Amino acid sequence: MSPRPVVAIVPAAGSGERLGAGRPKALVPVAGEAMVARAVDGLLGSGSVDEVVVVAPVDHLDAMRAVLPPAVRVVPGGADRIASVALGLAVVDDAEAVLVHDAARCLCPAVVTRAVVDAVRAGHGAVIPALPVADTLRRVDAAGRVVGPVDRTGLLAVQTPQGFARDLLCRAHEAAAASPTASRATDDAGLVEALGGEVVTVAGDPRAFKITTPLDLAMAEALLGAGDVSDGPPLDARTGAPS
Ligand code: CTP
Ligand code: MG
Repeated sequence: MSPRPVVAIVPAAGSGERLGAGRPKALVPVAGEAMVARAVDGLLGSGSVDEVVVVAPVDHLDAMRAVLPPAVRVVPGGADRIASVALGLAVVDDAEAVLVHDAARCLCPAVVTRAVVDAVRAGHGAVIPALPVADTLRRVDAAGRVVGPVDRTGLLAVQTPQGFARDLLCRAHEAAAASPTASRATDDAGLVEALGGEVVTVAGDPRAFKITTPLDLAMAEALLGAGDVSDGPPLDARTGAPS
């Protein structure tokens, strides 16, 4: 029997309104290469991912295929990110682990992907990379008036790739689809939490930031201009230095 593959689903079906590039964000070039192609290269280049399913905007399936390796499956996406991931998951038959990784986090270094896969292989059903929150936080009312401080202790900012046992991720998506109003989760780990499942964290990395705005795109291009960002040791979340 051949070993079960590690399969990554890459939600890339968003329109990229905040980036405002006039085309789906995943197709926007970052230093000359489409964001989605960089994200997929990063996953396959980590050595921990065997297969990739890209979830694309329904009217850009061919454009997406044109920038991806032929072995990558491309399927049409849905109305929101959760729906798009569910459509990707529907074509994943058997897997040792399923990763879900935003196309928009296209500079995620290999070390993060490997840590997530290793944690799923070690028996954790749901794994997220996460970083300490750097900014001071305040809770405000509808008018923007500060109503109180927020204790940062125990707060982490969550990244992707998130990793799951396939059956657990399927059950989490089935439950969310059955009661769409009950869940306000915006990521897959949130759906697992809603089921009462345990989610563990591994170290995230500043380079796994999400490209959302034109400033983020400029930062990604500056990083690429500074050299190879996808490999090497993790960066310390506090100092930004190799650890
Ligand atoms: N995504 C998706 N299907 C959707 C919406 C989002 O697959 N219906 C994907 C995006 O392509 C992206 C990831 O989910 O890779 C994170 O979403 P986000 O950064 O919000 O991207 P967009 O929705 O494209 O951007 P915006 O919200 O600015 O329109
Ligand atoms: Mg969005």
